[in-house]
Amino acid sequence: MRSTRKLEHLRLAMKITSDQGDSGFGDISLVPWAMPEIDLAEVDASCHFLGKSLTAPILINAMTGGHLETQEVNSALARAAQEAGLAIAVGSQRAALENKSLRETYVVVRRNNPDGVVLANLNAGCTPDDALRAVEMLNADGIQLYLNPAQELAMAEGDPNFRNVLENLSRVKEVVNVPVIIKEVGFGLSGEIVACLRETGVDFVDVGGRGGTNFIAIERMRGGRRIGEEMLSWGLPTAIALAEAVHFWPGRVIASGGIRTGLDIAKALALGASLTGIARPFLAAYKNGPEAVVKLALGLIENLRAVMFLVGAQDIATLQTRPVVITGYPREWLQERGLNPGKYAQRGYVRNVL
Ligand code: FNR
Repeated sequence: MRSTRKLEHLRLAMKITSDQGDSGFGDISLVPWAMPEIDLAEVDASCHFLGKSLTAPILINAMTGGHLETQEVNSALARAAQEAGLAIAVGSQRAALENKSLRETYVVVRRNNPDGVVLANLNAGCTPDDALRAVEMLNADGIQLYLNPAQELAMAEGDPNFRNVLENLSRVKEVVNVPVIIKEVGFGLSGEIVACLRETGVDFVDVGGRGGTNFIAIERMRGGRRIGEEMLSWGLPTAIALAEAVHFWPGRVIASGGIRTGLDIAKALALGASLTGIARPFLAAYKNGPEAVVKLALGLIENLRAVMFLVGAQDIATLQTRPVVITGYPREWLQERGLNPGKYAQRGYVRNVL
């Protein structure tokens, strides 16, 4: 049953103590700026997203709702988003569309975060009417529609039929009156897919790359055996997916999948992300109570501000002009794909020198 599956996902994700795979951020370096010419107190990580302001470009990414036991989790995540000034997405609202008694497990997010950025969530094959209802349920500022072919394949009861998704997305976009974000769930959107999605008229992509939560592993823990253990390393590392996506659609890319620290966030923003999404670490924090979720959110913002200071960036726009050096596997990958990783290392070389 869908509701039980949601609870199982939540419980298994809470049990996991480490990420699997490599997000690629270890091969991304920012260049130290030993003469920042700013005071840390002046460093401002705020940004605008979907017409509202955020303290920092951070999204508590889609996870839960759909079972009564998930309501407390969503309640705590939403309070943290509100207190820290971050955006938040709910997990798939399918369960509440099918069973009204579960609406409250999602609506609590809007109630606890009345003025913030709240994103609805459904699968990319949803009908336009379902998308409208999901947005209305939360008075949402936008809707995430997820693409999860690897997860559907790994899931014992999954539905690996992704026919006509592109056409469906165009229809959904015509009907819903809020921005539409297409996201992966941990296996990455490649440049080709981002270029196709751009054509449909949707508003943002969230690359949802490899290196963090691994749904092939989670579905295998639930007994799914349709694909083998060797597929645990499937997916495009987040840093690579991000560079590909930004190449095809600059200014419209959200980075997520294995983003864990203020340093990862700074690197993703410097590579061109407009927002960064983090999911499982907020669940891990929740195990220590709602206050721990707030602490994590505030800590990420402080660590992001510290990195901004160390590259002499007073604001996010300046951070995004700072050089980024891409080495190792991501460099080789991007070179093979004809995307010139060197352009990040040399940008602003003269302009930004004091
Ligand atoms: C998720 N994720 C997810 N994504 C989505 O679009 N709809 C959903 O319903 C869910 N459900 C869900 C449940 C749980 C328990 C987890 C941990 C995650 C995926 C999530 O939004 C994100 O894309 C991945 O978790 C990768 O990010 P992290 O966890 O590596 O930061």
